Amino acid sequence: MNIPAPHPSPTPHAPPAPIAMLAELTYRCPLSCPYCSNPVEMAARDRELDTDTWARVFREAADLGVLQLHLSGGEPASRRDLTALVEAARAAGLYTNLITSAIGLTERRLAELDDAGLDHVQLSLQGTDAAMADRIGGYDGGFKRKMQAAEWIVAAGFPLTLNAVVHRQNLHQLPEAIEMAVSMKARRMEVAIVQFHGWAMQNRAALMPTRAQADEASRIVAEARKRLKGTMVIDYVPADYHQDYPKRCMGGWGTTGLNVTPDGLVLPCHAAQTIPHLEFDNVRDRPLADIWTHGAAFNAYRGDDWMQEPCRSCDRRKLDFGGCRCQAMAIAGDAAATDPVCVKSPLHGRMQEMAQDFSADDTAPLTYRVSPR
Ligand code: SF4
Ligand code: FES
Repeated sequence: MNIPAPHPSPTPHAPPAPIAMLAELTYRCPLSCPYCSNPVEMAARDRELDTDTWARVFREAADLGVLQLHLSGGEPASRRDLTALVEAARAAGLYTNLITSAIGLTERRLAELDDAGLDHVQLSLQGTDAAMADRIGGYDGGFKRKMQAAEWIVAAGFPLTLNAVVHRQNLHQLPEAIEMAVSMKARRMEVAIVQFHGWAMQNRAALMPTRAQADEASRIVAEARKRLKGTMVIDYVPADYHQDYPKRCMGGWGTTGLNVTPDGLVLPCHAAQTIPHLEFDNVRDRPLADIWTHGAAFNAYRGDDWMQEPCRSCDRRKLDFGGCRCQAMAIAGDAAATDPVCVKSPLHGRMQEMAQDFSADDTAPLTYRVSPR
């Protein structure tokens, strides 16, 4: 039997294709959540990519091998051309997931998105009652509108994921949030204890969970996972300041996903702009595949050649890739350092002290996110 020789790869050391792309369509948002991971300095509306450019980027992403497209923001429904963007993404062959607060989604708009081929909706939850949700979201009446939209989303037949970002101020509502997800018939729930990037970083003292809360959240999630097996899947992001080992951030830098900002910068993760020496390419200037494969920012922390001790000789380095580069930058002042969450980091003790000190601050005000014009 004749077995054809494989085509030689045009780039012999090309990284594997990314699975997912996060398209941050706009930083505009009607809510002002203090836990937002968007950068504190945000691109204004007049710098946002237009419909045709996004459509080209979606085609380039599909050609590169991306399978899932997460349409996010800010609030993606703030884009008037959202339906056209979903159509373009589906035409490119991408699975489309809308990450939304649901403010700005009407029953009619959801029907249009359904017709355009939207595959999935991920709805954010700021609290389980109006008092909490409207205070955290900084938007009076937002909870009521969200609950109405949740009914429309389910009635339209979209698979729903409920995304609860939890922190010191709303963690007591976690059991109720899980029950809400079940009663909304969500297929999946993401329980994410706030991660400190962007605006959330400004709010560490107001949002940091106590150690007891972090432990209780893990217990509640473990119990709910067991009880709801076969009904609803629960993804869980624990309180990393209270952990002993870091998360495998982004699945590993430049390995599985990429982000495109509203003005077209291509980032290895949503907080990468906090690493000051990195330079980012823009989809307006360079093809997406070229940026993914050859871009300096993507290659800065790929693999493990860049690692320092203790990561360099650690047997967990292929598991967590040394944790989060942005957290290493923020706490250690060096993006190539071991994530200070790690028990082997010389800064681990400092991290635990910070967690304790921030979580004990009962006077810290919430600093609300400010939306760009
Ligand atoms: Fe992960 Fe580095 Fe800690 Fe090892 S030393 S567990 S590789 S962060
Ligand atoms: Fe940037 Fe973790 S958020 S690597």
